[in-house]
Amino acid sequence: MTLDEMRAALDDALRGARAAIPGAGDVGALDELQRSLVGKRSAAAAAKEAIKGLAADERPAAGQALGAYNAAVAELIDARRGDLASLAALEGHVVDLTLGGHGRVRGHLHLITQVQRELEDIFTGLGYRVAEGPEVEDDWHNFEALNIPPAHPARSMQDTLYVALGADEQVMLRTHTSPVQIRTMESQVPPIYVVAPGRTYRNETLDARHSPVFHQMECLAVDRGLTMADLFGTIEAFAKRLFDDDSVRTRFRSDFFPYTEPSAELAVSCVFCRGEGCRVCSQTGWIELGGCGMVDPSVFTAVGLDPEEWQGFAFGFGLERIAMIRCGIDEIRTFFDNDVRFLAQY
Ligand code: DAH
Repeated sequence: MTLDEMRAALDDALRGARAAIPGAGDVGALDELQRSLVGKRSAAAAAKEAIKGLAADERPAAGQALGAYNAAVAELIDARRGDLASLAALEGHVVDLTLGGHGRVRGHLHLITQVQRELEDIFTGLGYRVAEGPEVEDDWHNFEALNIPPAHPARSMQDTLYVALGADEQVMLRTHTSPVQIRTMESQVPPIYVVAPGRTYRNETLDARHSPVFHQMECLAVDRGLTMADLFGTIEAFAKRLFDDDSVRTRFRSDFFPYTEPSAELAVSCVFCRGEGCRVCSQTGWIELGGCGMVDPSVFTAVGLDPEEWQGFAFGFGLERIAMIRCGIDEIRTFFDNDVRFLAQY
């Protein structure tokens, strides 16, 4: 073997080593490779043997070539040995990132907002539009136009939260959503079919069933030839959808509201006991939802509509009450405490 042939053989072997060593899967395979690269029947052994047959002046160069080869192989072997050792050490501390992990906690709508949106869906399905009005109202819209005269008890300081803007007792936080009826009739031409959900305020002391802030939904229909049958039919259809139960019955009992004539208190049969009497309905079999009636002619006159030409019906009810019934909640305060442990359940 000439010096050049020897160099070529060592280069070949080193190329093979570079390709094979980093892929050695375990220490056994690495030992095997080491033997084949520098052991008894390796290119290194053959070169060592060949050096003896070379001319004396070629031997130093040949020795250098062999030394470089051995060093390069040793370096590759050591590096892979180190890798295998760290892999083995890691195996005891494996963190499996493919399993579980912590899901991101996402928020969701407040229960009252969910109920409000659901009601809006039901009514838009019946052909209604959603209307809005301001939470700070004037005397005209909150009371006067609704046929609530100045001496009416609903105006007393006890119930109404007045705002110190303008003349005394002229500006207030709306005590119900009924003023949106007035605003809608003032700004739109009948036929009108609207629902108006929103926040309402009363000077109430907070207890399990009362809150100074609560939500209502108002419904107003104005058209030609509307009768109480339309009112009853609408409420029945909406109650069945709301409680997702076709056997729900509705009950109307004579009542009084200044802006409707006749007026009725609106109740539905208890969806929990089906009318037999339970804790939710206080053993009565009925759940009172709100008030309703046929729009009083004086209300039409107040907004400039001819009561001979137009008829209307209206109803209003509380959203907290509906949420409480549906979810079996008996504390209205829980809606406003904003404890996420409570709210996250719904
Ligand atoms: N505004 C009434 C309340 O706050 C509820 C109500 C009763 C609304 C009769 C109406 C109605 O539209 O016709 O208790």
